[in-house]
Amino acid sequence: MKPISRFDDFPAYTPIEPYDVLSARLGIPADQIVKLDANENLYGPSPKAIQTLSSLDDTHIYPDPESRALRGALAGYTGLPVKNLLAGAGADELIDLILRVMIGEGEAVLSFPPTFGMYAFDARLNGAKLIEIPRRDDFSLDLAAVLKLAETFHPKVIFLTSPNNPDGRMITEDEFEAILSLPVLVVLDEAYIEFSDSGLGKSNSRIGEVLRRENLVVLRTFSKWAGLAGLRIGFGAFPEWMLPVLWKVKQPYNVNTAASHAAIASIADQDYLKANVARIITERQRLLTALQKIPFLTPFPSRANFILCKVTGLSAKALQGELMKQGILVRYYDTDLLHDYIRISVGRPQDTDQLVEALQNVSWEKGEYHENRFCSV
Ligand SMILES: Cc1ncc(COP(=O)(O)O)c(C=O)c1O
Repeated sequence: MKPISRFDDFPAYTPIEPYDVLSARLGIPADQIVKLDANENLYGPSPKAIQTLSSLDDTHIYPDPESRALRGALAGYTGLPVKNLLAGAGADELIDLILRVMIGEGEAVLSFPPTFGMYAFDARLNGAKLIEIPRRDDFSLDLAAVLKLAETFHPKVIFLTSPNNPDGRMITEDEFEAILSLPVLVVLDEAYIEFSDSGLGKSNSRIGEVLRRENLVVLRTFSKWAGLAGLRIGFGAFPEWMLPVLWKVKQPYNVNTAASHAAIASIADQDYLKANVARIITERQRLLTALQKIPFLTPFPSRANFILCKVTGLSAKALQGELMKQGILVRYYDTDLLHDYIRISVGRPQDTDQLVEALQNVSWEKGEYHENRFCSV
């Protein structure tokens, strides 16, 4: 008898295609692909991180299960005590870990789509009952619905994202306070928070709030601002009561040696990385202005390193396909909540230029879109 898995019917996550696979499929050299589909940092890591990676001498030894050196550096970086900080293989790993320790079979998790897909994925994976409360048209939260459904379902965990993926909107103080006042663990995902800052001044992160709230976790990552997406390194700040159970349940060697060293080097080289973040913020404005001039796109203002656009006059899928043929990758959405939208990551000026040129070559129709008449010129 063939054994069956309880995940046989589980909806699969659609991951992105690696450069080399794409390059072979499109017949375009990898270094000519403009990758604006996964909110990565096209400036790459800091030179200090690269130097550290090229001179590693301890990769034959298992990494420190407590990531002590990294957590020490993170304490300096965030101003939080080491004991409240836990590192993970990306924020992704921590989302799963939090649900593993918090959710019993059938207990409710609340999230606000459209938002980052891993909350729903990990909620299902961990046997939670997923309650999704759609955002309003301007991507704000429907607080009345949240309060009502929280009373009905008594969720164990709520996911908040600021700035939110895919629209780039920040959570407001009122939304934050209303949700934190509920008797539920709130996970505030700040993967893109560095791009919301106005420059060298004070950070917008609410990570310090974790010390004053019993029910707040804040997640951060090195994937975006520090250009380390491929190394899988993130961290969270947790209330003290959660840490003993998190330490017991996490995989012992979850943070690899290379990622840990590179993250420490990135913190040491944060001025360099912040200058790239500032470039991306400047470029975001230039990209927004350029997108506003494309007749079939309606871009939304964003505080993150991407811009969401409503597509009219052709389908978002067709647009994504047409850009891909020109070697430009963007993400498209065709869901109930996001029908015909694309999300474009903010790259370097040359990436914007190539994208805008490709967009200008796209044929579109005011009104109905006809597949057979769609061609690039
Ligand atoms: C909102 C949000 N949180 C977390 C992540 C994942 O972060 P990491 O690369 O650290 O797993 C992403 C990645 O796109 C994201 O959009």
